[in-house]
Amino acid sequence: MTHLTAPLVFDEALIRRFDINGPRYTSYPTADRFGPDFDAGAYRRELARRRDDPRGRRPFSLYFHLPFCSTICYYCACNKIITKDHGRSAKYLKYLGKELALQASLLEPDDNAVEQLHWGGGTPTFLSHDEMRRLMALTRQHFRLLDDGEYSIEVDPRKVDRVTVGLLAELGFNRMSVGIQDFDERVQRAINRVQGEEESFAVMDAARASGFKSISVDLIYGLPRQSAAGFDRTLDRVLAASPDRLSIYNYAHLPALFKPQRRISGADLPAPDERLRILALAIDKLTAAGYVFIGMDHFARPDDELAAAQRAGRLHRNFQGYSTHADCDMLSFGITAIGKVGNVYGQNVRTLDEYYARLDEGVLPVFRGIALTPDDALRRSVIQSLMCHFELPFAAFEQEYGIDFGRHFAPELAELGEMEQAGLLRVEPGRIVVLPPGRILVRAISMVFDARLRADRPRNRYSKVI
Ligand SMILES: C[S@@+](CC[C@H](N)C(=O)[O-])C[C@H]1O[C@@H](n2cnc3c(N)ncnc32)[C@H](O)[C@@H]1O
Ligand code: SF4
Repeated sequence: MTHLTAPLVFDEALIRRFDINGPRYTSYPTADRFGPDFDAGAYRRELARRRDDPRGRRPFSLYFHLPFCSTICYYCACNKIITKDHGRSAKYLKYLGKELALQASLLEPDDNAVEQLHWGGGTPTFLSHDEMRRLMALTRQHFRLLDDGEYSIEVDPRKVDRVTVGLLAELGFNRMSVGIQDFDERVQRAINRVQGEEESFAVMDAARASGFKSISVDLIYGLPRQSAAGFDRTLDRVLAASPDRLSIYNYAHLPALFKPQRRISGADLPAPDERLRILALAIDKLTAAGYVFIGMDHFARPDDELAAAQRAGRLHRNFQGYSTHADCDMLSFGITAIGKVGNVYGQNVRTLDEYYARLDEGVLPVFRGIALTPDDALRRSVIQSLMCHFELPFAAFEQEYGIDFGRHFAPELAELGEMEQAGLLRVEPGRIVVLPPGRILVRAISMVFDARLRADRPRNRYSKVI
């Protein structure tokens, strides 16, 4: 993909002009479009379809949502439960076992191969060593983890030592993302997450020593009391540890939606100018250090498998972000977890009580979801292509979906005219290419193809793109 070789361009004027609120497109349609008319029965029927039709079956991706954290980080927008009571995770694990057995019972017995697994949270390492062993053993009772799979876990370094990292490797994990956010002490106090550099780097060193193939670091810009100078120091320290990947998330301040964010004073948030300075600085430093921009907050070393997959046109995007594995069916376990089978998405209930009650009745805990229309499936594929490859090759969509791209997307192409004139993208005969200044705004470009968003403008429920 030759158009990917030019480095990312940070153009402040363009960012200011095209910076609008938007979703992150880890799914299309986005989860806020899921409805209760798609329920456990509908999800079960889709699993039955996979059981009855072995053609094109691919190994699964499994996601486990482990929601517990022992302390609260004020900025956090994840689905989590704050508790110090480990009895709660013991009970949760018992029910994850029930859900694993229930979902597995709906599959063909030999349809159990897995090539991707992720433990996300909350804080997966809230679990004791014994509990982690048990969860992986339960998983392996029902599924066969293939040897060269991508097995990843989110790690909060404040809760993890060398022995735990060794155990994770022994259990089969080979990818890790480490939450750092910012090392600036003023920021750490303002977000209620005081975390030492040594403990963070010790986890990364231990992961390398234990044979982890890829280590990723999460940072956030736009946090309270953050400054370009402070973030500069954080970036220097993090880059010295040379992670394989970096996620630089934009802090989404939505206190109406996420209660703990009310503990963050709006006055402490960096002003828009400072935020942009922080972002520009991060892009400069990462580019100078040789990282490539994968898309949507993610950077990777050129020799990392994500960058290689992007160059080869094999990159994918799912609920966990970017992935090198083809578009698998994803079975998900635990509260709020979202599964994807064929052309449907189903999401589990949000509370522990509902989750336990459903499983006690022997019912899948899915409470909402969506069955994609053929037009949704086409748009999902268009948005994936933009987000992963910064390109829309018309012929590929025309062949797969039996459309005339120009005619089907005439209103969208007309709307892209302004972005083309501004230099974000180029419409060529047969394809659209996102240009280096447009890559950082790929979400805004993708939104043009979001039919559901177009249908109900001007809703304004998302965090800012930048
Ligand atoms: C589910 S958290 C899990 C990681 C683990 N519990 C930890 O804290 O290290 C994954 C990442 O989401 C990001 N995140 C959480 N809330 C966010 C927000 N409001 N805006 C942007 N990023 C956020 C953080 O970078 C965090 O490391
Ligand atoms: S950032 Fe991680 S540790 Fe902090 S509250 Fe969110 S999930 Fe828990």
